[in-house]
Amino acid sequence: MDHTFRPPYYHRNVMNEFMGMIHGKYDAKEGFLPGGSSLHSCMSPHGPDLTTFEKATNETLGPVKFDGGLAFMFETCYSLNMTEWALQAPHLESDYERCWANLPKLFVGPEGNGKVEGKKADADAAGGV
Ligand SMILES: [Fe+2]
Repeated sequence: MDHTFRPPYYHRNVMNEFMGMIHGKYDAKEGFLPGGSSLHSCMSPHGPDLTTFEKATNETLGPVKFDGGLAFMFETCYSLNMTEWALQAPHLESDYERCWANLPKLFVGPEGNGKVEGKKADADAAGGV
């Protein structure tokens, strides 16, 4: 695929997502190591961390060989709660949301018609989106 953003895209959904890494390297978050897991509850926005975003948007696209990593994901309409053990675990990434803290704001609100900041003039010149 040419001119694509290859990591998993930013999204939220109506399901609760629990995923884990079994082996290899996860392509959307630095430090998401084998044995690690994440929980994104219903309608929680999530996606690649800043490092992954910057790499994916700036690298020269070409063929990339899949490294053979293996992850899993469970999706359920039922709410999942973390156990007390998980909440107290020393390896808990309690500042998980910080991985998105410095992402640039690329989309504007309804007054901007969803145009990408910095490319708004280009979009206007092109007559739209
Ligand atoms: Fe997700």
